[in-house]
Amino acid sequence: MSNERITKQLSSIASLIYPKRIPRLKVGPVKDDLGFTLSERLALRQAWNLIKPFERRYGQDVFYSFLNEYYWGIHKFKVGGDLNLRALHMHAVMFIHFFGLLIDEENPVMFQLMITENNLTHSRCKVGSAYIGDLAQALVDFVLKVFHKVSSPSLERGLRKIVDKFQGYQDHQTVTTAYNRLSKVRIN
Ligand code: HEM
Repeated sequence: MSNERITKQLSSIASLIYPKRIPRLKVGPVKDDLGFTLSERLALRQAWNLIKPFERRYGQDVFYSFLNEYYWGIHKFKVGGDLNLRALHMHAVMFIHFFGLLIDEENPVMFQLMITENNLTHSRCKVGSAYIGDLAQALVDFVLKVFHKVSSPSLERGLRKIVDKFQGYQDHQTVTTAYNRLSKVRIN
């Protein structure tokens, strides 16, 4: 085969291969649909596995300290003039448990639904959105203090992003009569 033919054949093969698409360059860490990086997700999951067995204790610590400062909050757990202790204690566990549920949720649609529902619940109870962000921040401060030995920048960033979701809550005008779960809770 002549040199000229070989060169021609090679260039026709090369034309099948080239030009090659240059792979898209991703700058920085890859984030999931909710804005968390893989290492943030991992750090959050690991931290929450340590927290889960102590949800009740940590929840009560943080929520009751919060109510010491934001004392008006206790009135939100009153039915008529009486304090619904059961609902109050339940909330101390439910609010921290809700964090865990958010951390476990990978589906962005479900995640957003949970946030929206929770936002609406508090609007109906007339708990201002700013206070939700404050309680979320108080929990994160507590977690970072208790787990300072195993803390990492990924955990801090991950927690920051969760607090951001709560701080993004909006106050909604709602019909109070449409929601009155507290009155359905038996007072012991
Ligand atoms: C990060 C912040 C918070 C989270 C994650 C959270 C979470 C929750 C959850 C999961 C529920 C139950 C919703 C349901 O059953 O449908 C709830 C209800 C409620 N939350 Fe919060 N909460 C937060 C902050 C607050 C604050 C600051 C207050 C004010 C003191 C508050 C007062 C209430 C009240 C009054 C209810 C209704 C209780 C009931 O129906 O038994 N929450 N919250």
